[in-house]
Amino acid sequence: MSTGNRSTGETSFVAYLECSETKERFYQDRMHGLSSAGHPLLVRYDLDAVRAAVCKEDLERRRPDMWRYRELLPMRGIDQIVELGEAMTPLIRLPRLSNRLGVAEILVKDEGRLPTGSFKARGMAVAVTMAKVFGKTRIAVPTAGNAGSAAAAYGARAGMETYVFTPADTPEVTAREIAYHGARVYGVNGLVNQCARIVREGTEIMGWHDLSTLEEPYRIEGKKTMGLELAEQLGWSLPDVIYYPTGGGTGFIGMWKAFDELEAIGWIGSRRPRMVAVQSTGCGPIVKAYQDGRKDVEAPWKPVETQIHGVRVPKPIGDRLILKVTYESSGFAVAVSDEDAGKARAEVTMEEGLHLCPEGSLCYAAYKANLESGQVSPKDRVVLFNTASGLKSPMPPMERRLDCNKPIDYTAL
Ligand SMILES: Cc1ncc(COP(=O)(O)O)c(C=O)c1O
Repeated sequence: MSTGNRSTGETSFVAYLECSETKERFYQDRMHGLSSAGHPLLVRYDLDAVRAAVCKEDLERRRPDMWRYRELLPMRGIDQIVELGEAMTPLIRLPRLSNRLGVAEILVKDEGRLPTGSFKARGMAVAVTMAKVFGKTRIAVPTAGNAGSAAAAYGARAGMETYVFTPADTPEVTAREIAYHGARVYGVNGLVNQCARIVREGTEIMGWHDLSTLEEPYRIEGKKTMGLELAEQLGWSLPDVIYYPTGGGTGFIGMWKAFDELEAIGWIGSRRPRMVAVQSTGCGPIVKAYQDGRKDVEAPWKPVETQIHGVRVPKPIGDRLILKVTYESSGFAVAVSDEDAGKARAEVTMEEGLHLCPEGSLCYAAYKANLESGQVSPKDRVVLFNTASGLKSPMPPMERRLDCNKPIDYTAL
């Protein structure tokens, strides 16, 4: 339990780690992976102590980054953190599109501004911090791409040896970025679940720390800060609906956990947003489970037919947790085609000047479809998560050419 020290912040408020299924408790005396029953572990804090130790006003004196919520993070002191400048990400209005659709307000939380250009920085910053705390020097991660960039960058920052396994068709810019950070990155002729198997089976011989989604308890803590930040940015209130592109679902589960913790420390009330898990029609295991009224994903999605890399997860390990949040929040799960996501990306980029990534575009496309079908109301205040910079994904080619040695026909430009 904590020994709260408000002045220095040199305190961990972690009470224990809890198996998300059996509720068995584990203590933060060493690095843990899954629970003994094989389920994700969730970090539980002494929230009464947090409540006594920090108030909203304290945040005003802190830097505008994710570490401002340090009492709700697992490290002991701010001096332990591995950081690269994780600025608070802006909430950007889409006034023109809101107007055209006749809706109250669309806000985009633009996570593309974080180190390595995606929200994966949040999770990896905390996971690598904790790996360092526990003396790990070698880390490994299976990834659709962005988590690999973040692991490579934070691994380099922490002086660790980093191994990354990613599908061979991961965008070139991301694969090269991972390699350029000094990680040993391999393009695998399979999907992220095959990459995960390679990491799992290599653990004994390589002695690496496995940073797979939800197989260690700390990435979710970092991702949780999206929810903490959102609440603070909205004046300690929450929107009516949140759209989140869901692959492994860490952010989705993490934000819900954040809202519970904020309520327990008295910073928000009991009102919650409806949480919408957005996937692709080419890989929608959570959507199928939701439509079937199931609590889990029955079988891995096959065949996977989407080029939207972040949501190419045939059977997320956190399936039960994702679906629980969906049901508890009175939200839902919805799939959109790659084609509609592509049109949505162009619409927001060209009309609002905000370059969404394909995963963020799924959210805008889903929102438009749900508005039309009446699943959300025009009066709803909606937050769409743009989980990465659009610059990390391929764009249509620029084909116009001019010969500077010939007269220019300006009227034909
Ligand atoms: C850009 C992007 N969006 C969304 C996701 C899915 O995130 P999560 O695992 O939190 O569901 C990923 C995961 O790779 C991603 O890279």
